[in-house]
Amino acid sequence: MSNKILFIETNTTGTGSEAMKIAKEKGYEVHFWTSDFDQYKTMEDNHPQKLADESLVIDTYDVDKMKEFIKKNHLNYSGILAFDDYHLIPAAVLAEHLHLPGHQIPSLEKVRNKRKMRDHIRKNKFKQISQPKYSVVSSMEDIEKMSLKYPCVIKPVDDSGSNGVTICKSEEQLRNSLRKEMKREINERGYQLEKEWLIEELIVGKEFSAEMIFSNSKWNLISITEKETYGSHSVECGHVTGSLNIPVNNLQDKLANLLHLFELDFGSAHIEFFIDENDVYLVEINPRLAGDCIPELVEISTGVNMIEHVVNQSIAIDIGIQNKKRKYASIQFALPLTSGKYVAVKEKRRIKNMAGFIRMSINKLPYHSTNIRSSYNRLGYIITKGDSKEEAQKKAKEAINLLEWSVVNG
Ligand SMILES: Nc1ncnc2c1ncn2[C@@H]1O[C@H](COP(=O)(O)OP(=O)(O)OP(=O)(O)O)[C@@H](O)[C@H]1O
Ligand SMILES: [Mg+2]
Repeated sequence: MSNKILFIETNTTGTGSEAMKIAKEKGYEVHFWTSDFDQYKTMEDNHPQKLADESLVIDTYDVDKMKEFIKKNHLNYSGILAFDDYHLIPAAVLAEHLHLPGHQIPSLEKVRNKRKMRDHIRKNKFKQISQPKYSVVSSMEDIEKMSLKYPCVIKPVDDSGSNGVTICKSEEQLRNSLRKEMKREINERGYQLEKEWLIEELIVGKEFSAEMIFSNSKWNLISITEKETYGSHSVECGHVTGSLNIPVNNLQDKLANLLHLFELDFGSAHIEFFIDENDVYLVEINPRLAGDCIPELVEISTGVNMIEHVVNQSIAIDIGIQNKKRKYASIQFALPLTSGKYVAVKEKRRIKNMAGFIRMSINKLPYHSTNIRSSYNRLGYIITKGDSKEEAQKKAKEAINLLEWSVVNG
């Protein structure tokens, strides 16, 4: 029996690093494989290379190469994990290959591609959750064949972090966005994009996500998160989580049924949706933990450590779910609202003494900002807690507004 857990890449907002720490506390060796350590250069304390017992640079998109390496070196693991969208499938294929717990690959393939996800829901006439009208395009000519209303949203079928997502108010804006997008071959994580885009009618209402864990042979809704986005690229700039009041009956059942429709029966899920009056409109299903420190917020507000559940499941342990607390936790991101070179930030000490402050993280500076197009363009974040949603949210916003940035060459 091996005592090693293999991490195929990680994420930069720290969930993967937290999982590594949990694995080590449980007495496992952490093995970390990456295509390129450069992807993690903005991380300081939680850098995967510092946490891992052993690291390897290998093409983490090349499953055959990884299988060959495992075979050649007679490697054995207790579990295999991935924390970013692009490595869920490679990690699941390796887990299956080594007869370890993991996702069913066809299920992952359907949700990882947003077009396949929408088509599967439509084909199966699943009505418990609504979808916006949508079309699929892969060329400028395809835009002419569409019959959607404006405003609409363009998004690549297989990217994340709001990369390539743009709200378009007119056909001209849509054409400009598609033209720009067609030039993008690979993303920040070295992932080769499929070059197909979904065009969806704009959903109105408030945006939320559901944080879910598969445990005791069923999907459990652990927390609901309300989301704030910024600008025409809908970059996520704030979240608050806890037991929010949602005007929808049987939300947990509806979401669980949605996941069953895709035969997902492993790990965690982060489902993004809007609520318009009493209707739920699906944005996307992520078959993984949420990013943006949401699992940390969930633990502060409910007491459930979703990351530990995911680590446990990878090694075939299920400890069940006990929601204990009824608090609220919030995160606000610092956005570079003026362009220029961000060289320094002040007011960190006062923020740390504020009631409800949990922690803050500022990316390595200097940072050169030209635009806010994706999550990669944010400057850092502050996490706070409170007894109500409003209290937690207000504290995080106050704290983020106290940061004083020095910007040059604006
Ligand atoms: N049809 C839509 N109507 C309204 N807003 C939308 C729609 N589709 C996407 N958005 C907005 O754009 C954001 C990003 O879209 P989506 O989640 O599909 O892309 P993503 O790249 O996976 O983003 P992330 O990884 O940040 O969640 C959504 O959270 C939402 O705010
Ligand atoms: Mg999303």
